[in-house]
Amino acid sequence: MTLAATDGCCFLCEGWRVHELPVTDSTNLVAANLAAWEAVRADSQTAGRGRFQRGWVSDEGGLWLSAVVPTGPNASDWQALPLAVGLAVCDALRSIGLKQLRVRWPNDVLVDQRKLAGLLLEQTVPGLAVAGIGINVFNHPETHDPGLTNQTVRLADLMASPPDLRHLTRVVLSRLRSVVGQMQTGGFSALLPRVNQLWGGPRRVELDLDGDLRRGTFAGVGENGELLLLSEAGHKTAYHAHQVRSLREID
Ligand code: BTN
Repeated sequence: MTLAATDGCCFLCEGWRVHELPVTDSTNLVAANLAAWEAVRADSQTAGRGRFQRGWVSDEGGLWLSAVVPTGPNASDWQALPLAVGLAVCDALRSIGLKQLRVRWPNDVLVDQRKLAGLLLEQTVPGLAVAGIGINVFNHPETHDPGLTNQTVRLADLMASPPDLRHLTRVVLSRLRSVVGQMQTGGFSALLPRVNQLWGGPRRVELDLDGDLRRGTFAGVGENGELLLLSEAGHKTAYHAHQVRSLREID
């Protein structure tokens, strides 16, 4: 979908130009036609998308936001961008008072075992990436998909007065601009120590590599954002996000 001059409204914040829409199919599809440092937020999405072509429930009250970031000419330097975006979202949520966050590689933001936020990174043209960010705030995911019962959590469940969606947009975009700037200057390795603090302790996991299951201990991420899996025999193997259909925590 391409934005027309009459669609929604637009404001400037924190170095971003932000478009707001009452409803769209997917903000990631809208953002595919935007320039660097532009973003789009919709009150609801009719075809919200998750990783691996899964759907994403996007009823009113959640933050459904897609932001376009420049990735520079060397694509391999930016493989870790999803993790950098996860760091920015966690920084933003911490700054509004949330303490007990963790990330499940590559980019599910959890509180205990429940999903608070999901990220979908897509590269539509060389040099630009769309960072799709979904955060449950006041919405009711399980009403729209009973399969999500006890799987999700919202800011409204975690704090007395969650910020309104426009304020949350500003905070998230501000942190995203800052993290991308740090990556431009120092590379992903400048972020790596902070990213590796997001996971919350060693965990036994099972990876689904499109039907091929591998078990081991999650040992953080490497220089390019790849997952490091430690086998029982003590061998460390690296996996990239596109190889891993899902990661399940097993103990
Ligand atoms: C996942 O957990 O699988 C990723 C979910 C990403 C959802 C966000 S909501 C804003 C943006 N638009 C989409 O269609 N998806 C992302």
